[in-house]
Amino acid sequence: MATFDPRPRKPIVAGNWKMFKTEAEAEVLIGQLLQRLDPLIEGIEIVLCPPFTDLPLVGKLIDGSKWHLGAQNIHWERQGAFTGEISPSMLVGLGCRYVIVGHSERRAYFGESDETVNRKVKAALAAGLRPILCVGETLAEREQGRTEAVVERQLSGGLDGIDQLSGVDLVAAYEPVWAIGTGVPCGAGEAERVSGFIREVLGRLLGDGTAEEIRIQYGGSVKPGNIAQFTSRPGIDGALVGGASLEADSFATLIREALG
Ligand code: PGA
Repeated sequence: MATFDPRPRKPIVAGNWKMFKTEAEAEVLIGQLLQRLDPLIEGIEIVLCPPFTDLPLVGKLIDGSKWHLGAQNIHWERQGAFTGEISPSMLVGLGCRYVIVGHSERRAYFGESDETVNRKVKAALAAGLRPILCVGETLAEREQGRTEAVVERQLSGGLDGIDQLSGVDLVAAYEPVWAIGTGVPCGAGEAERVSGFIREVLGRLLGDGTAEEIRIQYGGSVKPGNIAQFTSRPGIDGALVGGASLEADSFATLIREALG
């Protein structure tokens, strides 16, 4: 008899290594992770997003596992005179399945706008990469009561012109800027509330059926000790993890906690 699955979306936890880990350090970390975590893990999707320079090695080391490779950024053009940029097909060629787009550090330090985020999302989708689209308000915006307005603008801008989409191909990450790297996560109830709002906006933009399929992660000071507070909520489908993904014990424990 078929059992009713109350959780139709497969949870997804992505480790965003940011600008950490040389190749040699990445090799050590992956070796330790492979000892601590089942490479053929079921019930949760694991995505590792190392710096560009580690992608070939990490891709090779996790080959044969069920873990996925993701990049932290992408350029929207197929190729051309864009010094320092990396194209979608280059990422696909290295085995990437996911790409983080619109992270608040890129918006704040590298001038990314909703328009460039939108180009990147479109380019990723066209290349068969799944964008992890990050949205979230700053502390000032939250204090001004603008959380919903900011998140809605980032979603409608980032997804402008996209109407045909399979929900599994897009991941949204709610990352309140004030919670990133601060050790002060958003309360799980509030994160679920904003995630619910994100799903509502996604429904308006892409249709309710698609919005129901899209995984919405929470990100911002997620640790082994608090991830279950987020992932136990039906409206939150995993996490985007920075600092706690840089160390094998913490990332492995975090994944186990997320599995429940
Ligand atoms: P953090 O980073 O887990 O270190 O807060 C999260 C992120 O930037 O995605």
